[in-house]
Amino acid sequence: MAIERTFSIIKPDAVSKNIIGDIESRFEKAGLNIVAARMLHMSQQQAEGFYAEHSERPFFPDLVAFMTSGPVIVQVLEGENAIARNRELMGATNPKEAEAGTIRADYAETIDANAVHGSDSPESAEREIAYFFDDSEICPRTI
Ligand code: TYD
Ligand code: MG
Repeated sequence: MAIERTFSIIKPDAVSKNIIGDIESRFEKAGLNIVAARMLHMSQQQAEGFYAEHSERPFFPDLVAFMTSGPVIVQVLEGENAIARNRELMGATNPKEAEAGTIRADYAETIDANAVHGSDSPESAEREIAYFFDDSEICPRTI
């Protein structure tokens, strides 16, 4: 299985619940290495651009308002099958449908405040990583 990179966000609800450490621990235990990470408070423009694919959806204004409501962690995870593995750890978009033991089942209360983001394809991963990180900020393991 190929080593992949995926883009992850720990969303404002999860940061405010002080579960950053637990979420990162789940990634590390699953063999996903954090190879870039930064905390930021997204501007409206940043959030709108990041979620541009959803700009025509009725939930878009609420999604942008939520993503700009507090700080987030943006990060790059690297490992075998990283894109699908991260989506497995996250659980379904709607926490009510998320499998037990997933991040969203354990921590998310609603579909709009659902704790984490993860790229859904290699194309999205590439776009999303480049949206927040320069190549020089990505630090693959050397030891
Ligand atoms: P989507 O890309 O479909 O989900 P995922 O985050 O699992 O890739 O949607 C992006 C975000 O938009 C989702 O995490 C939460 C929000 N959203 C809603 O608020 N309501 C909805 O009905 C959907 C589909 C998404
Ligand atoms: Mg998505």
